[in-house]
Amino acid sequence: MSRAAEAAGRVSEARQWERLMTMARIGAIAGDGVDRACLTELDRQARRVLIEWARAIGLSVSIDEAANLWLRREGTEPGAASVLTGSHMDTQPNGGRFDGIYGVIAGLEALEALEAAGARTRRPIEVVAWTNEEGGRFAPGCMGSMAWSGYRPLASFAEVRDPEGVRFADALAAHLAAEADLPRRALGGAPHAYVEAHIEQGPLLEAEGLDIGVVSGIQGSRWFAVTLSGETAHAGTTPLKLRRDAVQDMVRAIATLNALMEDPEDVLRFTVGRIVVEPNTSNSVADRATFTIDLRHPDAAVLRGKGDAIEATVRGAVRDAGVEVREVFSAMPVAFAPEVREAVQRAAAALGLRSRVMPSGAFHDAQFAAAVCPSGMIFVPCRKGISHNPAEYAEPGWLATGTRVLVHTLAELAGAEAPSSAARSNA
Ligand code: GLV
Ligand code: MN
Ligand code: MN
Repeated sequence: MSRAAEAAGRVSEARQWERLMTMARIGAIAGDGVDRACLTELDRQARRVLIEWARAIGLSVSIDEAANLWLRREGTEPGAASVLTGSHMDTQPNGGRFDGIYGVIAGLEALEALEAAGARTRRPIEVVAWTNEEGGRFAPGCMGSMAWSGYRPLASFAEVRDPEGVRFADALAAHLAAEADLPRRALGGAPHAYVEAHIEQGPLLEAEGLDIGVVSGIQGSRWFAVTLSGETAHAGTTPLKLRRDAVQDMVRAIATLNALMEDPEDVLRFTVGRIVVEPNTSNSVADRATFTIDLRHPDAAVLRGKGDAIEATVRGAVRDAGVEVREVFSAMPVAFAPEVREAVQRAAAALGLRSRVMPSGAFHDAQFAAAVCPSGMIFVPCRKGISHNPAEYAEPGWLATGTRVLVHTLAELAGAEAPSSAARSNA
């Protein structure tokens, strides 16, 4: 048996599930969901638990200026670039128990399995928990990995505010102050490779009875914030033709955008997910309506064309309101590196698993890591593809299988060496 396969055999389904369920209690909401926004007290609690587990298996822990959290297992070759794995610990406000946290816990489990197999690797392996992947509290998502990869400066997020008006820069400073005991590391780096495990968040693997998705790439995304400014007025007394009603203009704008985004092939994804109306009372005409747009497509040209047409479409649709359209996030489609994809494919084949190559409709931190080093992802099935929903579920066995593939992939990318004779005799 190869060293990689031997280490994969040391993954503990029960330990991994137990850890996931421990994390799921931190921010638990009704219906088995989790609400653990980034840089909150709950996020800190979850990170503290992770740090304890990591230290118990001898990993060194550090944090960077974007509050990305790093757990490191040394390699045997001094100065060798590390192999990274990980994901995020924050959730959507109505999130599930697996989106993000699975990739972090799987990374930890992978290192524990290597340890149990007595397998050293030539390169260090690091597990990273990226800050604010979801963008649910501070938009956009992936701030930690964008800042780390140099895609956007960390300072460019400083003034973003959460729904309570807290600045990102203040939440980050408070978090770093609370974690001041952790060694600091520089933001950025030049790793050898990055591989992220994640639930599929779509229905294909389960429907096709497959164990593993070998992710080929991630479609592009653009996020916009549209603000329409009208004038508030009395709902009972003001004739319709004298109103500058921001809500009515928002309805016109969204209807016209729906027509622009129509796609007979159903590949394009267009979502208005957050609407804020002011003053938000039943008997006042709204003077302000803000809505978000999440636009996605695997073809960069379509994403550019449709995204660039949004502002003119909104201006053309509204009757009375002032229009402001701000683009808050843009990530073009990425194709993952063949060397990582093939390592994942080899891992699945070596472990006798059924896999398929597939793209990701969701964005992930891997999208930004891909600009820095060869990157890839491993998907595991999740029930009915439900995600960003408390009902999100993945079987313990599906998750353990994904982690076995992760261990195998990491061991190969990091150059696994012979297990010690003591570990062999314990096997
Ligand atoms: C990630 O959470 C996404 O919205 O794709
Ligand atoms: Mn995720
Ligand atoms: Mn998510």
